[in-house]
Amino acid sequence: MTISNQFLDEIRARLPLSQLVGRRVRLIRQGREFSGLCPFHNEKTPSFTVNDEKAFFHCFGCGAHGDVVGFLMRMDNLTFPEAVERLAEAAGLEMPIVDPQARAKAKVRLSLYNVLEAATAWFEAELRGSRGAKARAYLSDRGISKATSTRFRLGWAADSRGAVKSALASKDISEAQLIAAGLVTTPEDGGETYERFRGRLIFPISDPRDRVIAFGGRLLGEGRPKYLNSPETPVFQKSSVLYGLSLARQAARDTIIITEGYMDVIALHQAGFANAVAPLGTALTERHMESVWRLVSDPILCFDGDEAGQRAALRAAERALPVLRPGHSLRFASLPPKEDPDSFLAGSGAEKFRELCENASTMVDFLWNRQVVGRRLDTPERRAGLKSDLQNIAGRIDDKTIRRFYEREFDERIFQRFLRTGARSGQRKRQSAPDRTGVEPPLSNTLGKDVSGTTIPREKSLMQTLLNFPVLISESHIQLAAFELHHIEYAALMKALLENHEKWRTHRSDATTDASVFGSEIHDERLLSLIDKLVGKGAKYADPTANPRQSDIAKARALVASMLKNVTNAEIGRNRSRAANIAYQNDMSEENWRIFRAAIEREQAASRWTIDEPDSDDTP
Ligand code: UTP
Ligand code: MN
Repeated sequence: MTISNQFLDEIRARLPLSQLVGRRVRLIRQGREFSGLCPFHNEKTPSFTVNDEKAFFHCFGCGAHGDVVGFLMRMDNLTFPEAVERLAEAAGLEMPIVDPQARAKAKVRLSLYNVLEAATAWFEAELRGSRGAKARAYLSDRGISKATSTRFRLGWAADSRGAVKSALASKDISEAQLIAAGLVTTPEDGGETYERFRGRLIFPISDPRDRVIAFGGRLLGEGRPKYLNSPETPVFQKSSVLYGLSLARQAARDTIIITEGYMDVIALHQAGFANAVAPLGTALTERHMESVWRLVSDPILCFDGDEAGQRAALRAAERALPVLRPGHSLRFASLPPKEDPDSFLAGSGAEKFRELCENASTMVDFLWNRQVVGRRLDTPERRAGLKSDLQNIAGRIDDKTIRRFYEREFDERIFQRFLRTGARSGQRKRQSAPDRTGVEPPLSNTLGKDVSGTTIPREKSLMQTLLNFPVLISESHIQLAAFELHHIEYAALMKALLENHEKWRTHRSDATTDASVFGSEIHDERLLSLIDKLVGKGAKYADPTANPRQSDIAKARALVASMLKNVTNAEIGRNRSRAANIAYQNDMSEENWRIFRAAIEREQAASRWTIDEPDSDDTP
């Protein structure tokens, strides 16, 4: 969809920014502007300003800025067209649809939404009414409160033919519309049409804008199928919809929990996890992941504890590999066998569930553990098999930077386990050592969290120095571009900073810069919030040279230079160990092995700057 500037101007003219913002933020007029506490970062004194004349907001604290559309996009996690559509609605403007075919389609969709909404209201009323008694009892048996059931707009479809048809006919809804909405089915043999959902508890499924687009229906007792879903319609594509997403989006938490079932979402919501969603009985697709990644950077998968659930989690991980982007990933929380989130909550409570989520494995740990747990690795061939499986996994990652980090991480883990002898103790903690057969014992209750995350505090200091003294970015951009950061988010930020290295040249080098400077060139919200975490008000500095209040440009320049020298050493080390590796592959003599190992140890010492530093507070 292309939206003309004219149309955007019309929206801006009709909806003064301060009015829109004022509904969400307490604004105080200050001359021509308004100011208030920034809704996009935590602050105690207002640095957020709104200017109606310029039709822009700007935060001097976190650098957030934009117009009405940008505000709504950030506030409600919307895409550009979604935000425009909503604003157009609020401004009483018709969305400009040029193509008559598209206009006709839009009309059909609109009428479907109305039909689905009317049906939802009818099912809800049925649940509350006398015919809904059994369904209400079922819900209360399963521990679902009235408030929760209202929240999810649960309903009841009685087991009688013609009920929905006649109820909605009185609202001027035709049978053809009911068929189009998937509520009424036409039998293949041309017999009489009938309601799809009969004798079922109804779970309305909404789109991210909270419009009902389909239904799920559950039998109260045993029987098959246990759940029935609406067929695909112009407003419902099963493989991209997540149940509960509109509520999860409103919850605005820093993560989203992806479960398998309707009841899991509802039970979690009731237990205080309003950020739960579920696909509709299908695998988790790339489209599901994209829509979750629009809201949070690493959602937690919490599938059923049985074999099927664990397989589905692995499939989701494999499917995520090609679509991973810097900063985006999945985490994996694993339930005991036979449990789903709903039953786990009922048995163990919300606190235990929270712990489970906090201990969720990262993607790399999850994939590694799936490969090594329970696998015999006692011969060179089996170890080589592991290596090649891991290479295959990493090879499926499209993003070059992430792929390289995965390859490196897997290599390093293999090195630590099989190649390195007499590793310094305390350097790498291991939860459990492989036994003599080389089989990794299964980990208790979870697929395991490897504790060997590579975290490098000095990378943080470097990023802080560059952000506080941006002129250094332009001074050393060539060397910095060759720099390999281990921390994926820092790597993404470095890339963005380098893309604009020219821009930072003119920045004052004698004074500190606040994050808002970067807002003019960097528009990725995640990067902006990373900048804020690194050098915003609450930032902590491990190295005083990175801290503008304790440092100056000369000290900062010296620090960056010394780090770059270190990198050069690491680069030399890498080349040496590569050569030693080739020599060893050609001639596997004891002598070559000794040289190879020494080269790798030297390389690691050079590239891992601070192996002994405490690694608390080094993640942004
Ligand atoms: P589950 O059987 O785990 O359902 O299937 P659940 O949500 O835990 O429900 P309860 O607790 O047994 O009532 C997971 C999901 O798979 C889809 C549904 O989306 C369900 O929520 N499913 C399951 C179907 O579409 N059809 C079925 O017959 C069964
Ligand atoms: Mn289940």
